[in-house]
Amino acid sequence: MIWASGWRLASAVSNAGGLGIIGAGSMYPDVLREHLQKCKTATDKPFGVNVPLLYPDLDKHIQIIIEEGVKIVFTSAGNPKTWTNHFKQHGITVVHVVSSSKFALKAQDAGCDAVVAEGFEAGGHNGREETTTLVLIPAVCKAVSIPVIAAGGIATGRQMLATMVLGAEGVQIGTRFVASEEASSHYNFKQAVINAAEGDTQLSLKKLTPVRLLKNKFFQQVQEAEARGASPEELSLILGRARAKKGMYEGDLDEGELEIGQVSALLDDIKPAADIVREIMYEFELTLADPMKNANFKP
Ligand SMILES: Cc1cc2nc3c(=O)[nH]c(=O)nc-3n(C[C@H](O)[C@H](O)[C@H](O)COP(=O)(O)O)c2cc1C
Repeated sequence: MIWASGWRLASAVSNAGGLGIIGAGSMYPDVLREHLQKCKTATDKPFGVNVPLLYPDLDKHIQIIIEEGVKIVFTSAGNPKTWTNHFKQHGITVVHVVSSSKFALKAQDAGCDAVVAEGFEAGGHNGREETTTLVLIPAVCKAVSIPVIAAGGIATGRQMLATMVLGAEGVQIGTRFVASEEASSHYNFKQAVINAAEGDTQLSLKKLTPVRLLKNKFFQQVQEAEARGASPEELSLILGRARAKKGMYEGDLDEGELEIGQVSALLDDIKPAADIVREIMYEFELTLADPMKNANFKP
């Protein structure tokens, strides 16, 4: 996750038994190298890197990932055909993020090892199809034979179990980890995330790249522009440069772009990533043991 998943969060998740992922999308190449090196020092467990395929300095990122010996890459926001073979030639496992069965099939055809199927609820950039996780997971599981990792709206063990009942083999969790101590996100943003209620996020900027945002002054500005029929060029001007950094990293809750998922409505505390992993796994195991009996268990 841009402006959230640096080496601190990724290594904390990996040390707790998950697969921590460094978000390369907000890092200059030299910053990415530094995060990879620090992550390798902070954990001896596997970790991955997310590479948005539209990143301008993409080839530099990829070179660094290979030089630093990264073993798992999650690609997103682009065509998986372009780089998957290259990664695989260097022995790297490739997982591509998709929002539909059609894109899942393309990822499978491109040789990806697995897909993340990310539903409409998710924080950050999102699919145009607006398919919710509950519908997307069985659809993608039916379409492809490679493993499917569910994402979008998952922050508890019961939600994790639900996606597995639908056919997922793993989960990718974003929003819950933004509200962790180790996320590099600004404290103001973390507070806003745990204060969010149902209906406080919405998919925005659909004429550019759809992204789920926390409703704030900037979001309202975009809404007003879209309502009067603003062109993509005008919307690009309103968005400007470094909005996401301003909001999520610098903590400007009015003027910044605040990417977060619907599941923020369920969160009420900022805690260490290891506690988050442990609590999710505890609730998962308990519910799995007797789903009906434990349905009302309060963690
Ligand atoms: C602040 C934020 C930044 C994100 N940045 C990225 C990114 O750079 N690349 C990407 O593939 N997904 C990104 N995502 C999506 C997450 O990787 C994940 O798929 C999503 O958050 C899952 O849904 P959830 O938020 O409901 O847990 C981001 C999500 C958030 C909340």
